Amino acid sequence: MFELTGKTAIITGASRGIGKGIALKFAELGANIAFLHFGDGENAEQTEKELAEKGVKVKAYECNVADFEASEKVVDEIISDFGEAHILVNNAGIVRDTLILSMKEADFDAVINVNLKGTFNMTKAVYKHFMKKRRGRIINISSIVGLTGNAGQANYASAKAGIIGLTKSVAKELGSRNVTANAIAPGFIKTDMTDAMPEKAREATLAAIPLKRPGTVEDIANTAAFLASDEASYITGEVIRVDGGIAI
Ligand code: NAI
Repeated sequence: MFELTGKTAIITGASRGIGKGIALKFAELGANIAFLHFGDGENAEQTEKELAEKGVKVKAYECNVADFEASEKVVDEIISDFGEAHILVNNAGIVRDTLILSMKEADFDAVINVNLKGTFNMTKAVYKHFMKKRRGRIINISSIVGLTGNAGQANYASAKAGIIGLTKSVAKELGSRNVTANAIAPGFIKTDMTDAMPEKAREATLAAIPLKRPGTVEDIANTAAFLASDEASYITGEVIRVDGGIAI
């Protein structure tokens, strides 16, 4: 397996779900973990405990990634606490699903602000640090709906498609500084987010997956670990679907 010993990873939205899975995998591979959550203190505390059991340095930070100044401040705090940062995983995300017919402006703005602008804010916050150190890994969690679109998710699909454009732009801007930027496009992964889906929608989605099972957070974490590792040093600007084939 891959090796992340001595690296520090900043992971947004890692108090639960996919972000937590990525944090646990990175910690198993030896990385120190600075993770962000927003309004999820109880889960964050539990995750912090589980990560510390892996024997690495761990700290949780409460920060709204949609807030530009707060993102900048938290990254400064992390770099002062950990010395430096090597990997950024932009995973924090929310949904506000409904057809455009009933979608409120606030539903659109909230999803864009957390998913897309949050990814920009955190990238901007680590940008100069990675540039100066002449190395860095940025891994953005998009979604297959950013590639395919989805009825009822115009806000979310726009944000996730935007993340792909952002990833490719960052890859081009920072390539000469030995910084890679890649996106993962998960399909249907079993987390609190998908547990909240209506039963019928969940059944229909499952039936459309060629591999006939929902994805696990470990499926995403394994891909993120590969992208963060030395073995992926020549991959940048790529979007990897981890979706059991649903978006083929
Ligand atoms: P989740 O709802 O279980 O966890 C979301 C995490 O984001 C939590 O730690 C929460 O504290 C954090 N968060 C929410 N708003 C935040 C904010 N404003 N600032 C900072 N942190 C914030 O979600 P899940 O399912 O683990 O999803 C993680 C990522 O994967 C999201 O970007 C989601 O869009 C994406 N994704 C999930 C899929 C799935 O099937 N679960 C499929 C495709 C993409």
